[in-house]
Amino acid sequence: MKITIITVLILGLLSTITARAESLSNDRIELFRTMGKNMKIISQADNAKTALMAAKTLDKIANKLSTSSLWPINSGDGNTRAKNEIWDNLPDFRAKFKNLREATKNLKEIAALGNLKNTQNAFRKIGRTCGSCHRVYRSPKK
Ligand code: HEC
Repeated sequence: MKITIITVLILGLLSTITARAESLSNDRIELFRTMGKNMKIISQADNAKTALMAAKTLDKIANKLSTSSLWPINSGDGNTRAKNEIWDNLPDFRAKFKNLREATKNLKEIAALGNLKNTQNAFRKIGRTCGSCHRVYRSPKK
């Protein structure tokens, strides 16, 4: 009887942990998708104001995604495409987020000057910072 109760308690605890990790990865994925949408808006923008709005959103999300509470250790199970290599190389992973934040901040500042062509030039640099992290820390689509 005691053992049964303990087993139930342990199973309950485990499923709570799993559910938490899954919802975290859903939060991450949601943010990444919004970032992707705003990248598209900038690439198709025909005026500087639209680009500036999207650049501001990008920068906000880049900061949000960098917070460590979204990346607790080994939250790479379930539906996530986050590789476990992230937690073996945390300083490098963080450095890649820092590069992203610098690129989005730069983009935001340039977009605020109101020149669409310059904004789109700065925008191209961002794509590289996305790819440099995905190559190492994101697994292929399931
Ligand atoms: C520091 C690393 C890092 C950077 C920088 C980064 N990503 Fe990601 N990205 C990831 C990881 C890890 C995942 C997988 C997250 C998960 O599934 O839990 C991911 C997932 C995604 C997804 C997939 C969401 C889905 O539908 O499953 C998109 C889209 C995406 N990123 C877009 C971007 C864009 C656009 C940028 C640049 C503006 C970017 N990412 C920058 C690490 C990064």
